[in-house]
Amino acid sequence: MTILDMEHLSLELLRVKMPSVLVLHQILRFMLFVCLLMLSSLQVSYTSWFLDAFNYAIATNMDVLNLSIGGPDYLDLPFVEKVWELTANNIIMVSAIGNDGPLYGTLNNPADQSDVIGVGGIDYSDHIASFSSRGMSTWEIPHGYGRVKPDIVAYGREIMGSKISTGCKSLSGTSVASPVVAGVVCLLVSVIPEGNRKDILNPASMKQALVEGAAKLSGPNMYEQGAGRVDLLESYEILKSYQPRASIFPSILDYTDCPYSWPFCRQPLYAGAMPIIFNATILNGMGVIGYVESPPTWHPSNEEGNLLSIHFTYSDIIWPWTGYLALHMQIKEEGAQFSGEIEGNVTVKIYSPPAQGEKGPRSSTCALHLKLQVLPTPPRSKRVLWDQFHSIKYPPGYIPRDSLDVRNDILDWHGDHLHTNFHIMFNMLRDAGYYVETLGSPLTCFDACQYGTLLLVDLEEEYFAEEIKKLRDDVINTGLGLAVFAEWYNVDTMVKMRFFDDNTRSWWTPVTGGANIPALNDLLAPFGIAFGDKILNGDFSIDGEQSRYASGTDIVKFPGGGYVHSFPFLDSSESGATQNILSSGMNKADSPILGLLEVGGGRIAVYGDSNCLDSSHMVTNCYWLLKKILDFTSRSIKDPVLFSDSVRRDSPLYLDDNQLPSRRTDVNFSTYSAVVAKELICRSDSRFEVWGTKGYGLQVMGRNRRLPGFPVIDLGRSLNSTMETSNMKQFNLTKEDDLGNKYFSLDDLQVDVPMMVASHWLIPAIVAISGLLLFLSFWRIRQKRRRRRKGSGSGRFVTP
Ligand SMILES: *[C@@H]1O[C@H](CO)[C@@H](O)[C@H](O)[C@H]1NC(C)=O
Ligand SMILES: *[C@@H]1O[C@H](CO)[C@@H](O)[C@H](O)[C@H]1NC(C)=O
Ligand SMILES: *[C@@H]1O[C@H](CO)[C@@H](O)[C@H](O)[C@H]1NC(C)=O
Ligand SMILES: *[C@@H]1O[C@H](CO)[C@@H](O)[C@H](O)[C@H]1NC(C)=O
Ligand SMILES: *[C@@H]1O[C@H](CO)[C@@H](O)[C@H](O)[C@H]1NC(C)=O
Repeated sequence: MTILDMEHLSLELLRVKMPSVLVLHQILRFMLFVCLLMLSSLQVSYTSWFLDAFNYAIATNMDVLNLSIGGPDYLDLPFVEKVWELTANNIIMVSAIGNDGPLYGTLNNPADQSDVIGVGGIDYSDHIASFSSRGMSTWEIPHGYGRVKPDIVAYGREIMGSKISTGCKSLSGTSVASPVVAGVVCLLVSVIPEGNRKDILNPASMKQALVEGAAKLSGPNMYEQGAGRVDLLESYEILKSYQPRASIFPSILDYTDCPYSWPFCRQPLYAGAMPIIFNATILNGMGVIGYVESPPTWHPSNEEGNLLSIHFTYSDIIWPWTGYLALHMQIKEEGAQFSGEIEGNVTVKIYSPPAQGEKGPRSSTCALHLKLQVLPTPPRSKRVLWDQFHSIKYPPGYIPRDSLDVRNDILDWHGDHLHTNFHIMFNMLRDAGYYVETLGSPLTCFDACQYGTLLLVDLEEEYFAEEIKKLRDDVINTGLGLAVFAEWYNVDTMVKMRFFDDNTRSWWTPVTGGANIPALNDLLAPFGIAFGDKILNGDFSIDGEQSRYASGTDIVKFPGGGYVHSFPFLDSSESGATQNILSSGMNKADSPILGLLEVGGGRIAVYGDSNCLDSSHMVTNCYWLLKKILDFTSRSIKDPVLFSDSVRRDSPLYLDDNQLPSRRTDVNFSTYSAVVAKELICRSDSRFEVWGTKGYGLQVMGRNRRLPGFPVIDLGRSLNSTMETSNMKQFNLTKEDDLGNKYFSLDDLQVDVPMMVASHWLIPAIVAISGLLLFLSFWRIRQKRRRRRKGSGSGRFVTP
């Protein structure tokens, strides 16, 4: 087998269940321990087998462990906790980051854990190997921001190794880069006199030596190379004189250092923006457990530095050896006109209990150097808000892929973030002059006056009733632009996509479609817009731009006066396929896929597919379309082709509500949702002014409203919310036209009257909440157990 075959095979291995081989080497004790996990006839490896192997490593006091396996399920708690136990027992764990590059958001567990040294691969000319998985870690999104990974990179392409039979062969993969680092670690250990080893050597001090000694490569960004290429000599120098201390990784965030500091360096800070989150890792070489002594502090080195306001969140307990320190950065209002650099240090004091024979605790102050660029607040029309909050990914649930043609990657696990699989779109928007901010909180947590367009792409989440209501007001009365890129949703197809998971011994069925169309339809109902449940595929062109519609949905409701583009596509959904056969012959019906509408003071564009914006598995991009859409939604510029008279609808496109796609009744969505049976609250990724609130304060504040703010429905208090919900229905502004069609007349929409659309789940949810308060603790325990039972969902596989 050639090397390249190996590489391709390895890509397959993560998906298709194939033999898993776990090799643990304990070079330190000059003893080679090879543990081959023999495989069942089904060729699957189970979490429990790894637990056995890890227990063996702990019981035999191993020093270094190379692990060239991984998988996307970081919620496999028995596995993750066992890795914590390993490193807590002072075993230095080195692991391959995965071979799912060059796609972003593809880190594998356990290499994505902060207590593990995660290794990416480079070739001999110091380029990141295309196969090497890219950061950031995705545990933290949608509500926070991922950590920098890999930690370090090493040669991983065409590495000569010995064949089992005889002679040599060359190998490629992060599985090859990882043992290179494991070897470096073992050499480094040997420089520390044996008497001292126990005091100095641990997973944190070793990681400090590796990342501080690493050689930063000039091309790749920090989510590709981490600290850079492993450097044995430099790391040796650091370790030679090492005194136990804590440090922050990365230790510098420098906006002037592009592309290393991508994506931060691609967009300066400005006043009024959503906080920029930088999630750094605390490495504590002083002890397996440690604490932050007092809150971190910001020390600007110039006067302008006082314009920066930082909120810190950090680990309560730094264990094992590592924790996090997240910076939530905002420019204060007085900096709204400031343009320039801000520089300074964030310092934090960490302490650990005294080591054996010591009297006082160990403590050390560590610093993170910041060099930030600031611009005056851009005008509204240049600001785009990306909704991250309503995105759900794998794990914890079977969230299916967006393009059904991509059969070897069945799960939606790349994070759906501006800086993971939408990173090229992010760069494109920046190039086009837009400033893109991330909303990790509900739609009630932003001030629509500040943004030209709210961008909703590939969303799986439900919506709070308050969000539906506020968005309607934002669009109609505040002139917000709304751009929606949806995805397929077809229950028959979902049922067909189920598979038997060997780890959990159970059937897995997608909990929603590529996007949650029933939820999106609730959100868009106030505008008279709805998507259907077709799964459409085909090529089309608008204005000479060739595009592929890859498993997208169709538009089934759209108000008259709007512009709707339709193309003849084949419906490949399970339900559609049958119909296609029945009505054989001419079966390509014209399906509406793109709709544009002016409504009140705002503008709306909806498109049924997101594949053309998603860098993972993209067929053709539609950045040209996104630009034209944003021209319209943000700046009221109407492209002559998109708005040609031939596509203007005089009468509404209509489908009765009971024919719209409905939610799956057999899925308990609250297990995966941050909305269903949850409290509406603005989180730490919204502006500091609204943290911990429901966000209405911001809406009313500083705005000359004609009418008071909307009544707040508090889902946490069942009695009042039920009452208010039924009252609210009186405000329903739907109007029956001659055909009995329900849609909104534009005149009605100008009226600034609170209105709300009760979604199908709301009433049951409210009923459930009364119970929820009682049983909350019980449920938590159950959920935890459920996860444990679930084991490693899609499994863990070798990453050669
Ligand atoms: C690391 O693990 C991989 C596979 O799991 C194995 O091929 C490799 O030889 C190991 N190397 C070392 C030094 O342990
Ligand atoms: C930072 O990362 C840690 C570790 O994954 C996570 O627990 C925390 O929520 C993150 N913080 C933010 C603000 O993203
Ligand atoms: C703080 O920042 C300055 C540069 O502004 C740097 O020279 C200094 O070493 C930093 N202090 C610490 C404790 O890292
Ligand atoms: C749905 O899941 C939640 C949490 O996962 C659980 O508390 C609740 O009892 C479940 N509801 C039903 C109807 O099974
Ligand atoms: C209902 O709301 C009113 C005022 O908003 C409050 O005084 C009352 O305590 C609430 N009742 C319940 C049961 O929460």
